[in-house]
Amino acid sequence: MGDEKKTEKAGSQINFDDVLNFIEFIEECYGEQFIIKEDKNNTGEEKERRNDNKNKSAGIFEKIMDEVSKLPDPYHIIREEKQRMLKDIAERIKVCKKCELWKSRTNAVPGDGNPNAQIVFVGEAPGYEEDKRGKPFVGKSGKLLMKMIQDVLGLRREDVFITNIVRCRPPENRTPEKEEVSACLNYLFEELSVIRPRLVVALGAPAAKAILGKDEKISEMRGKFYTRPEFTVFVTFHPAFVVRNPSYTETLENDFKKIKEFFES
Ligand code: URA
Ligand code: SF4
Repeated sequence: MGDEKKTEKAGSQINFDDVLNFIEFIEECYGEQFIIKEDKNNTGEEKERRNDNKNKSAGIFEKIMDEVSKLPDPYHIIREEKQRMLKDIAERIKVCKKCELWKSRTNAVPGDGNPNAQIVFVGEAPGYEEDKRGKPFVGKSGKLLMKMIQDVLGLRREDVFITNIVRCRPPENRTPEKEEVSACLNYLFEELSVIRPRLVVALGAPAAKAILGKDEKISEMRGKFYTRPEFTVFVTFHPAFVVRNPSYTETLENDFKKIKEFFES
């Protein structure tokens, strides 16, 4: 009964501008996760009208905020919903048979990490350790990746999201075939559409080629940012390559410094 009354009252007072103001407020509170892109066609006149309405509706806005303050934290609602959607993707990956790689796997390896991550790292395919444990980057190359994330970016594993272009370990850790990548790649785009990160870091040539749809050499793509409508892509070495060739550690570290600058700018 009481709830019905509230809805009716709110329905008669809230207009579209109030909703926009409210969204702007949430954006201010929670930052990048709620970025709403500026409408390029939005004229100065329209902005003025909105500012004018903003002043006029200040009283209503306070009333809305008063009601909203009684609701659960929107950040947590969104996080829980994203978590639920990622779990659904992971469940499908675990039983997937869309390419031949399922036959030799112990465990398929879904992405893992923060559903609200601003940065997503994408590797090639699970290795021995990952296949055993069903979790990405938990072996030697994962150790180096985590060192870079912690030491250079100052982040923890639970702050970022880590995933792969292919989710089942290829025999002898061979590079995944084109058909295997195309069978599996949609899971990555599903994960990215839930998380909506600002930056996607492609680790190594296979990940970079698959994400960017380019057939260039790693030496051409490494160290560069590529702007895409939904997110920016940055390409660096695969950490397994650097484990095998330690003389490239400094290059990898410098790439991570570029990533840090991207978030600071
Ligand atoms: N190498 C990858 O590309 N992905 C992993 O998850 C582990 C090692
Ligand atoms: Fe499915 Fe990907 Fe595993 Fe192939 S590699 S079986 S597409 S989850």
